[in-house]
Formats: sequence, C-alpha cells, structure tokens
Amino acid sequence: MALISSSIPDAASLLNQNEIVAIHTETVYGLAGNAFSAIALKKIFELKQRPFYNPLIVHIKSVDDLKLIAAEIPKKAQVLADTFWPGPLTLVLKKQANIPDLVTAGKDTVAIRVPNHPVALSLLKQLNFPLAAPSANPFGSISPTKASHVANYFSTSSLTVLEGGECRSGIESTIIGFENESAVLYRLGSVTIEEIEAVIGPLKINTHSEEAPTAPGMLSRHYAPKTQTILTTNISEMLSLFKTKRIGLLTFRDRHDDQNIVTQKVLSTNGNLAEAATHLYDALHQLDQLQLDVIIAEKFPKHGLGRSINDRLERATKK
Ligand code: TXA
Ligand code: MG
Repeated sequence: MALISSSIPDAASLLNQNEIVAIHTETVYGLAGNAFSAIALKKIFELKQRPFYNPLIVHIKSVDDLKLIAAEIPKKAQVLADTFWPGPLTLVLKKQANIPDLVTAGKDTVAIRVPNHPVALSLLKQLNFPLAAPSANPFGSISPTKASHVANYFSTSSLTVLEGGECRSGIESTIIGFENESAVLYRLGSVTIEEIEAVIGPLKINTHSEEAPTAPGMLSRHYAPKTQTILTTNISEMLSLFKTKRIGLLTFRDRHDDQNIVTQKVLSTNGNLAEAATHLYDALHQLDQLQLDVIIAEKFPKHGLGRSINDRLERATKK
C-alpha cells in the first residue's frame, strides 16, 4: 500500500537511497528520483510503465542551478526563467554532458523547471541533486492533483507520497523549447501563451513535438479517463443523443437539468479559468470512478487557461 506522509526529511532520506517518492508540486504530483542515479531513473520508468523514449523533466531548486543542467541558455530562455520561476514553466535546452541519457531519452536537450511550492522547494534544498519527475500517474492516464489520486494509482506498491494538499495550478507546466534561438511551444499548460508572449513576443506553436518527439501521433490519447469521454460545445444536443445512458457531466460554469445526469461537476460557478484548471483532474478522477456510460465535457473558451484545459480534454477524448 502506498504511504501518504508529510515528512520532508523522510522523503529526502528515501531519495538519498535511490528510492522514488511521489512529491507535491504546484501543477500535479510527480514521481521523483535522483536525476543523476540510473537506479532511481529506472525505477521511475518501471513504476510509471513509461516507455524509455519519453524523456523526463529535471526539477531544480533555483534559477541559479539552471547552468548546472543546461549547456546553452538562449537570452529568451533566461528571461523566461527569471520571470516565471519558481513556477509552472518548463524550458527545453541543450543539456550538460553529465545529464544521463535515461533522463533525456538520448536527446541532446533536457527539460528543466523550478517548481513553485514550499514542499517541493524545501525538499530540493535538502538534497544535493536535482529531481527527475514525470507526473505521478501510470502512463497515459489522468495526472494526479491530490495525494489520494497517487495512492489509488499505486495501491499495490510501497511508494511514499509526500503530501502537500490539492495542487494549486492543477494542470501540468507549459513546455517551451528553442529552435535557432526562437521560442517554440511544445505543450500548453499552466502558464498561458498570452503571459509568455507578453514577455518574449510571438511564440511558434508546435505541440506535436510534445509527448513523443520521436513517434509523432502515437500518444495523442493521454490524460485519459477509462470512461468514454466526449467534448462538445453543445451540451443539450449531447444530452439528448445519449439519453438512455448514465451520464457524467463536466462543465465550466453552468448546471444542466436532465434526468440521465448521474453526477454533474461544475468547475467554476463564477467562470474563473484558474479555478476550473485547479479542479479539472479531480473532477475527471471522480467521474471516472462512477461506472458511468459516458462523460460529456464542455469545451472551454479558446483563450488563456481555457486553451490548456481544452488541450487536455481533447487528448482525454481521443480514441
Ligand atoms: O507540471 C509538470 O510538468 C509535471 C510536474 C511533476 O513537474 N511533470 C510532468 O512530467 O508533466 P511528464 O513527464 O508527465 O511530462 C513531461 C513532458 C513529456 O511529455 C516529455 O515528452 C516532455 O516533457 N519532455 C521532456 N524532456 C523533453 C525534451 N528534451 N524535449 C522535448 N520534450 C521533452
Ligand atoms: Mg504526464
């Protein structure tokens, strides 16, 4: 059985022994291990059942440590780090030679971020190595935003979960890479395109290079509930289409009346996208446990965090 703990020293001691600890970050929980230990890195891939071609994010304690991991830091990358770290932005940069191939899937670039939560930061400060950590879910399933989500996923393992409450941002970090000095968006996430463009100007968008840069398209289904999930701009139409079914409804701000709705999750009654993002995955986890026939999800506004939420819902609905 997984163990939920709030002891940072215990977590540090496990990590020092090449063990894996699930840690709270502001985005989602991560399955963390010593980024320089082949033993720890292998355990992460094994536990997550993640293919080795999908690289990990290295979590560091401060902007100052960036130069220990990245060999080249384009000017715009430094500006982004100075502006958004600690925070939910990941930078993909040329790696230092000593970063293990297991972390980067053999690529010459490495993904790096400074998490913005006192639990993760104080843990990192007690360690003399950075932490490689993917989201703490089995490969392809919904990311965990509560310690209990992680404990449920890994109930048959002796994994320790370093508790920090519900993750505030609620969706993963935004990932930015650099191609010939220009910034490219690889994954939509908790920092919005608008926020990034306000700092460094127009971004190229290439979200296909995320997830499986060497196997395009293979992983388009991701962040996925087991229950069939449908994304729509027309809730009423879908409710009548599925009227003989047990329906779970996921909406932005409005409630709907329909006798087939078994459960309804409204993510933010006052229409706040940040609040909706915080609760998105927990709502999906809960709906997915109700043995429903279908989850009908509402498409979000196409700006700010609405775009990131739509990205996750689209991946959740792909077959
Ligand atoms: O918010 C987050 O980013 C969370 C928390 C725990 O920090 N982590 C997370 O990790 O979402 P993960 O492994 O689930 O997603 C990381 C993504 C993967 O899709 C991977 O393909 C991409 O980052 N990535 C990692 N290294 C890369 C690289 N060198 N080039 C391109 N993409 C990379
Ligand atoms: Mg993930």
